[in-house]
Amino acid sequence: MHSDDVNPTDATVNSTADAAAETEVSAAIAGVGAIPATPAAHAVPPAANRRMVRAQGQSNGVHKQREVSAPVPAASGGAARDGAHREGAMRFDETGKVSLDHIYTQPDPHAYFSTLRRLDYVIPQLARPFFSQLIEERRARLRRPPTVLDVGCSYGVNAALLRCGLTMDDMYDRYGERDGEAPDRAVLLARDRELVQARQSRATPRFVGLDSSRPAVSYARAAGFLDDAVCADLEERDPTEAERTVLAGADFVVSTGCIGYVTERTIDRIASASERSDRPWMAHFVLRMFSFDPFTEVLDALGYDTVHVEGVFPQRRFASAQEQQQVLDTLAAVGVDPRGLESDGWLYARLHVSRPRHAPARRTARAGHPADSLIGRPG
Ligand SMILES: C[S@@+](CC[C@H](N)C(=O)[O-])C[C@H]1O[C@@H](n2cnc3c(N)ncnc32)[C@H](O)[C@@H]1O
Repeated sequence: MHSDDVNPTDATVNSTADAAAETEVSAAIAGVGAIPATPAAHAVPPAANRRMVRAQGQSNGVHKQREVSAPVPAASGGAARDGAHREGAMRFDETGKVSLDHIYTQPDPHAYFSTLRRLDYVIPQLARPFFSQLIEERRARLRRPPTVLDVGCSYGVNAALLRCGLTMDDMYDRYGERDGEAPDRAVLLARDRELVQARQSRATPRFVGLDSSRPAVSYARAAGFLDDAVCADLEERDPTEAERTVLAGADFVVSTGCIGYVTERTIDRIASASERSDRPWMAHFVLRMFSFDPFTEVLDALGYDTVHVEGVFPQRRFASAQEQQQVLDTLAAVGVDPRGLESDGWLYARLHVSRPRHAPARRTARAGHPADSLIGRPG
């Protein structure tokens, strides 16, 4: 990082714990080739996340959190501990996962975070140091703050974590009930805007989002988490010219919890919005039940190499025993061994990082920069 590039988006980077985490992240990103979780890795349960952490570690291939305040006992059958069952009959999508569509389209993030808190949804937190690391690499090469496009940005979740240094626990507290009452949207927005302004500096990356939920995108824009956004379902159609312009501005495309809702069609349309010489890097956290092969193929045709980062990442608890069984069935159908992972009550994701193969020299700001060692080649 340049000395003048103090990045408010990752205020944790100088702490001892985070220095260690950064090293681990670098090592993980540098790993080439998919390494399936070993049986030994299965023995390590994901840390409970009632207190989110500022650093993460890896043990036997399972990326987990450190500094967890108190372990949360797994609910029987691996189901969520409360809440989800009280919501009445659950609906499931065709992959076997519980349908959470109703919480993606509320005017503010209260229902989203209240529901996901009960499921210990943790993946944006675990993704943060990886995204931060790659943002810093892009910054070093471009010699300017990069533009980050979050696919399936929802209420601006990854942008909030990255630009404001928030944790998922912060998010759960921010949007939780006050004295038993749902918070007021205007109050939430005013507080978010204040936070974004307080954390903004010349070094802050630009954050743009893509999501099919207009209420979520509107909130993220109004709060200031996102500098620009595309509200569209690019599974269904090509981007308009205006949308293409926003997408083409991306230097780095990220996602958590979105692949599966979107397929390689959306990713193809995003990458194709840019000239071949100017395509963005990508980092997607993807549930193990979804094969990344079709994405790798599409991206390969567009000139990308894809690295499958070693290890697995806990995403959330199953919402019910029924959801768990359905997902286990899906995993069996696609030949993924769930033992010690999904069979123990959590959904797990993998990280896939894709970068253009033949980037022109002008994109390589400083040949021989230490960041090269993370990715093995200029890009
Ligand atoms: C599980 S949420 C993940 C949100 C956020 N990335 C996170 O990790 O907290 C999935 C998001 O994908 C969005 N989504 C679903 N289908 C989509 C599509 N076809 N195009 C864009 N976004 C979509 C939903 O609206 C929702 O915001």
